[in-house]
Amino acid sequence: MIGSGGREHSLCWAINRSPLCQKLFCAPGNAGIAELAIIVPINIEEVDALVIFAQINVIDFVVIGPEKPLVLGLVDKLEAVGIKAFGPNISAALLEKSKGFMKNILNKYKIPTAAYRIFNNAEVAKEFIRTKGVPIVIKADGLTGGKGVVVATNLDEAITSVDNMMYEKKFGIAGNKLVIEEFLTGEEVSFFAIVDGITALPLIAVQDHKRVGDGDTGSNTGGMGAYSPVPLITPEIINKIMKRCILPTINGMAISGRPYRGVLFAGLMIDKGNPKILEYNVRFGDPECQVIISRLTSDIVPLMLSSINGKLTEQKIEWSQNSALVVVMASKGYPGNYSKNTVIDGINDANQVSGVKIFHAGTDRNSIGQFIATGGRVLNVTAIGFNVEDARERAYRAIDMIHWSDGFYRNDIGWQAIGK
Ligand code: AMP
Ligand code: GLY
Repeated sequence: MIGSGGREHSLCWAINRSPLCQKLFCAPGNAGIAELAIIVPINIEEVDALVIFAQINVIDFVVIGPEKPLVLGLVDKLEAVGIKAFGPNISAALLEKSKGFMKNILNKYKIPTAAYRIFNNAEVAKEFIRTKGVPIVIKADGLTGGKGVVVATNLDEAITSVDNMMYEKKFGIAGNKLVIEEFLTGEEVSFFAIVDGITALPLIAVQDHKRVGDGDTGSNTGGMGAYSPVPLITPEIINKIMKRCILPTINGMAISGRPYRGVLFAGLMIDKGNPKILEYNVRFGDPECQVIISRLTSDIVPLMLSSINGKLTEQKIEWSQNSALVVVMASKGYPGNYSKNTVIDGINDANQVSGVKIFHAGTDRNSIGQFIATGGRVLNVTAIGFNVEDARERAYRAIDMIHWSDGFYRNDIGWQAIGK
């Protein structure tokens, strides 16, 4: 396993329980993953070192959590030395690496998405914004760790964001090109499918909570909590998402000579029952993955192997009827600056709450063996329950047992489901 977040901890947990897994390594992992896997101190971006490690240790199968190693071609480099890897190769990972590429694929294959234009020149972009007016959405083309999108509600903000991205190089070369698009309304959901190059099986829909504060206020984050099932996403809507969005995308990628394998993550806007693609990611979401893994009852390893071997049609995926919900605990200050190495108590007790599993993200142990926080997002308190409300009650009960004065969390995860 490559990665060190809650996503990778939950994937390690699922892989570890498979009868097909004999020995599990994780680079670089975290203190929670260390209880399931042998920790390998190699950074996710050191792709050549990862390949050498895999060769020396005769590793059969590599699962890649984050987008970075995928866009750096880790899958291609592993395959070149005969090692199987789960995830898209470098040419298919372009779907996340370049928003302009993604929008052009959507446009070419008539997949519903916001109307857009791509710009290489700031002055032309600003002229376009002045003509169109606000609200309008400005996106850096490249990878920005989820920070490169500005939903502008006034003209000054829109113009300034173009200057920041193109002249000030706020996101480096990721902002050399911009996608400017129509503002969409509706309800946002994350939808996942597993893909084998030719076909796809739907996984489930999950609702993320991107803003840092209760009531969806404050800055955007990587995600502060998630839950599933999402009441809005009926079987009929899943059908539309697969037929109108996912399958034509896979077909388009194959025709373009970039067959897609791995997990495809669609960020969707659902308006009056109709899905539109906001963006694609070429990996599981974090914290969405923790919820998916909590509801998945099938062995994940044969699914991943079938994605690589082009044999997904032979697979069937089973889900628990239970609901799952995750609350992210983060270091105070996140997504801005925060202090590191603060001590967290009570994790083991909280893990004993029935239905609860705590997936670690930025954690380590100090010299006397206590858990410490080493990142922005730190713990993923995940619970299953009879419904979303029950799962939420269990997750917050576990959180009450965690003593971490330098941490915080949102109090309203799952509000969209519980209000309904
Ligand atoms: P993205 O990284 O493209 O998913 O954008 C980040 C966030 O910006 C999304 O989760 C949405 O909340 C918002 N967003 C992106 N594109 C649009 C759009 N065309 N209309 C409205 N909101 C958008
Ligand atoms: N939670 C959103 C993401 O993983 O991109």
